[in-house]
Amino acid sequence: MEKSIKFIYKDETFEFPLVGGTENELGIDIKTLRALTGLVTLDPGFKNSGSCESGVTFLDGEKGILKYRGYSIDDLAKGADFLEVAYLLIFGELPTSAQLEKFQSDINEEAIVDEDLKTILKSFPKTAHPMGILASLTSALTAFNPSSVDVGSEEEMYQAIVTILAKFPILVGWTQRKVKGLPLNYYDTKLSYVDNVAQMMFKKPNSEYTSNPIVIEALNKLLILHADHEQNCSTSTVRIVGSSHAGLFASISAGISALWGPLHGGANQAVIEMLEAIKEDGGDTKKFMAKAKDKSDPFRLMGFGHRVYKNFDPRAKIIKVAADEVLNELGIVDPVLDIAKGLEQEALSDSYFVDRKLYPNVDFYSGIIYRALGIPTEMFTVMFALGRLPGWIAQWKEMRENNEPIGRPRQIYTGETNKVLKTIEKR
Ligand code: SDX
Repeated sequence: MEKSIKFIYKDETFEFPLVGGTENELGIDIKTLRALTGLVTLDPGFKNSGSCESGVTFLDGEKGILKYRGYSIDDLAKGADFLEVAYLLIFGELPTSAQLEKFQSDINEEAIVDEDLKTILKSFPKTAHPMGILASLTSALTAFNPSSVDVGSEEEMYQAIVTILAKFPILVGWTQRKVKGLPLNYYDTKLSYVDNVAQMMFKKPNSEYTSNPIVIEALNKLLILHADHEQNCSTSTVRIVGSSHAGLFASISAGISALWGPLHGGANQAVIEMLEAIKEDGGDTKKFMAKAKDKSDPFRLMGFGHRVYKNFDPRAKIIKVAADEVLNELGIVDPVLDIAKGLEQEALSDSYFVDRKLYPNVDFYSGIIYRALGIPTEMFTVMFALGRLPGWIAQWKEMRENNEPIGRPRQIYTGETNKVLKTIEKR
């Protein structure tokens, strides 16, 4: 492997080391670039820039590979439980049964949210978007758990981690209940983590809650598939907010806001709204394909394309199969699933999409399953956030343990220079 790279600037040769990863990725280490040359790099959207070295998640966009701590996403989605995967991402290895038992019991200890948070929840209008509610409640957790802010020791870090893992699903459940105008449910330490997610969202006050194994299995798989995805927009947000030594809960709250955008996690809601619009419009997918290709039209085929995957998003493949299985098992016929499949077929044989390597991503089919589980469309991105929570925690913990410097990118200034101040009378 090459050890360094040279370039000539102003007749001087500069050499910078190459950094190689365990999956043979190579990067130019430019930590000394400005000091040696006075130059900075310019890369809007960081399409060519690595922000860190990380051992949490690896993905190969060309080959459509995704691994958490070296384990393939296919194996984990088939054979693991979400809390095991959370432990894997955060602590670096799958837990033994004793470790998982202790992790679950430490989470159970914290699975209560201060009743005063209900006052904040009550203050939101019912029409508030759930992601705005969730981001606010998550940030408010800091006020009720001040010790979670500065995690100086391993014990304090662990305590903050089990606290947010315990309280977050309660906030997710409460957010859904607020949106549906239903009374709030509490975490039940007799149930598993994922079963608690379902009971806090769906348990009705006027009937016994019976756990549906099909729903629990589908939720478990979806949460695992969303658990981490290296340096995506919201994870980079969590890292950069945490790099100022802001607390874990505040960093997660910032990540929720970043995930909300329709170009990122908000796409799963936008996909269903798009498919519904196509259905209402008579199912004419060709018309929407033309809109997606028309540069003068801001419409994009939501759920298609990806910054890194220039092949199939491996998660989309798994979720597409699961969508068929869940709808069959629940005896649901959802016309938008057929519209989605038709759209996919058309796009994959259309040169505009093929030339740009635009394939279905994680958001294209996930909403169809969430909908079949009875989750409202505006809650889909909240479910994405719940799945992504362990990844955000793992990346934040790695950034703090590596003592990474505060994130502060440079720029190229293109504004006015040397302006002379005139008094207001003369402007
Ligand atoms: C997630 O980063 C992650 O890992 C994210 C994520 C995660 O797990 O954290 O995987 C989750 O966010 C998945 C992506 C969900 N977003 C969407 O589905 C929204 C629709 N997709 C796009 O907006 C877009 O594909 C992005 C935002 C996902 C990626 O955009 P890029 O990498 O900045 O690519 P680009 O906008 O420069 O597009 C390249 C070309 C452009 O055309 P040209 O200028 O070359 O002619 O492809 C076109 C784009 O116009 N294009 C699309 C398109 N996506 C890209 N055209 C129509 N429909 C689309 N969906």
